[in-house]
Amino acid sequence: MNVEDIVQQKKLAIDRELESVLSRDDSLLFQAMRYAVLSGGKRFRPLLMLAVGECFGFNMSRLLPVACAVELIHNYSLVHDDLPVMDDDDFRRNKPTCHKAYGEDIALLAGDGLLTLAFEILGKTPLDDEQSDMRGEVIAQVSQDAGAEGMVGGQVLDLTLSSETIAPEEYYTLISKKTGALIMTSVRVGAMIAKASSEDMKAIIEYGRYVGLAFQTRDDILDADQDNSDRAQVRPNSVALFGLEEAKRKLAEYVNLALAALDKIPYQSEELRYLAKKLLNVKKGKQNESNS
Ligand code: IPE
Ligand code: IPE
Ligand code: MG
Repeated sequence: MNVEDIVQQKKLAIDRELESVLSRDDSLLFQAMRYAVLSGGKRFRPLLMLAVGECFGFNMSRLLPVACAVELIHNYSLVHDDLPVMDDDDFRRNKPTCHKAYGEDIALLAGDGLLTLAFEILGKTPLDDEQSDMRGEVIAQVSQDAGAEGMVGGQVLDLTLSSETIAPEEYYTLISKKTGALIMTSVRVGAMIAKASSEDMKAIIEYGRYVGLAFQTRDDILDADQDNSDRAQVRPNSVALFGLEEAKRKLAEYVNLALAALDKIPYQSEELRYLAKKLLNVKKGKQNESNS
């Protein structure tokens, strides 16, 4: 099987696992949670975690629930990000946003439900037979990356800083938190559970940092084509800050740096290379990739 097929198979396994954890009951809340999560999505973060595990020789089955927990957190962040008090978006993944389909109150609570379900899964998943403190470490890491010092903190920077006045260093901090933190948690936690050596951990963290920067730069390039709202004009983003050509150059540079970080790891890293290189594709419109 080639790497593309392997990744596609993993994506199917992720989707099945997500469906299973979200099928507990048919309440309005679970319907909204399912709507938000099972509406497509590239599953980039869980794929990254499984690929990191694979790279360090760790079986995917034990990582799958943890990888899906991170995906639930990502989806909660999207539901809240789309709300009228945040980005006020009507569509996501080519479908009406969760609040458009279920109302703002239920969407807000669906986001809360996804976030707490993620931590329930992390609390229940057996991670390591010998060292039970691994779970505590994982939960602390995910909390830190998803919370005020990570993704939530990045969202605050996104709301409060303007592309007209933001300095490039502030922008890197913003995207490293807003988008980079959950990408980094996928990479770091995968390596933690697979018991990567400290040397390998350093290299994989470097990979995760550049993949995070590349991911948001690419998202900004894709958005530049289609988001003409007032908020999009002032929102800090790579294209507004550096111009389209420079943003594309930076994207290529980040991907190259991510690949260079993998050269330091003495294991097979084909899937991780494939996932990083996929970010170079900016031709496909954003609306066409929600299922790819
Ligand atoms: C979109 O994330 C929001 C950002 C952090 C840039 P994704 O591009 O991963 O969205 P889905 O999950 O594939 O729809
Ligand atoms: C969303 O960022 C980031 C999070 C939800 C943490 P954006 O606002 O840039 O992404 P889209 O355009 O809504 O997907
Ligand atoms: Mg948004």
